[in-house]
Amino acid sequence: MVGIKLPLFSVVIGLCAYYFYSTETITPDMVKGKRVLVTGSSTGIGEQIAYTFSEMGAHVMLTARRAKQLQEVAKNCLQLGAGSAHYMVSDMGNLTSAQNVAQEAIKKLGGLDYLVLNHVGGSGSFGTFKGDMEALLSSTNVNFLSYVQLTSIALKALLESQGSIVVMSSLSGRIGAPFTTSYCAAKFALEGFYSSLRREFVLNKSNVSVTVAVLGFIDTENAVRKVGDKVTMSASPKEECAAEVVKAAVLRQPELFYPFWGIKPFVLLRDLAPTLITHLLDKFYLLENIK
Ligand SMILES: NC(=O)c1ccc[n+]([C@@H]2O[C@H](COP(=O)([O-])OP(=O)(O)OC[C@H]3O[C@@H](n4cnc5c(N)ncnc54)[C@H](OP(=O)(O)O)[C@@H]3O)[C@@H](O)[C@H]2O)c1
Repeated sequence: MVGIKLPLFSVVIGLCAYYFYSTETITPDMVKGKRVLVTGSSTGIGEQIAYTFSEMGAHVMLTARRAKQLQEVAKNCLQLGAGSAHYMVSDMGNLTSAQNVAQEAIKKLGGLDYLVLNHVGGSGSFGTFKGDMEALLSSTNVNFLSYVQLTSIALKALLESQGSIVVMSSLSGRIGAPFTTSYCAAKFALEGFYSSLRREFVLNKSNVSVTVAVLGFIDTENAVRKVGDKVTMSASPKEECAAEVVKAAVLRQPELFYPFWGIKPFVLLRDLAPTLITHLLDKFYLLENIK
């Protein structure tokens, strides 16, 4: 018994120390005048990230597929204090469009300090994998390849500004989650690509930071509509999530876990107690509501 209690006690103490001693703060002067591209910013967490940067006086470039929503978000950004707010309508399922967005952002903003890769889409739905290759290809394009395409175009500008890349991931990018095979595969791919890129930046002494945000269930309209009746977990607020993402990006932290206590223990225990972790996670699914 003592043999089990001691490692568990150490894990808890370690987690507490990590959580409470990493509570640095940021101030608007750290962000004022910075040039930020936020993808998937017509709604959800991306919209809130754009507002958080705007409140601190950044110049923002927004992108998604819906013009009317983007126009509205851009207007709100200016009211909140953005130095400037541009938007470009684009479908990230098309890699040439992704390329154009990065080029246009650099042109409009006169360079780039933050590349926030946040959009999520594709034709897949929440449910059992039935061999749908089209959904897999669509998700791979929108949720993985377009991120890399945007990064490849923005790389030179980010190296010049010693800027930052922010990548939105999920617990599904660390632990295989059922009923989201295509999404899960894209998030694992992102985690692999961007953790590798981060090491290259460090070893090549290129001062570009890579922040991967590992998120739990967040109360965006789309997420709640898609999975709200299929899981028992409660959703965390998108506004707080966005504030934490921006803080982690400005502090150039390699990783963010939000909500911390809902994510970090699972990630830490994934390899130490895999059976326990899958047993606990499986309990969240309302199987009677999932096809
Ligand atoms: N919410 C959660 O529970 C949760 C949990 C873990 C991780 N995350 C991650 O956090 C990020 C944001 O999630 P969210 O819940 O805020 O998403 P969301 O509310 O569904 O918003 C997605 C954004 O992406 C845009 N988009 C969708 N398909 C697109 C396409 N083909 N081309 C260009 N833009 C496209 C949407 O705008 P248009 O429709 O106008 O194109 C929208 O602005 C995602 O990377 C997601 O994986 C979210």
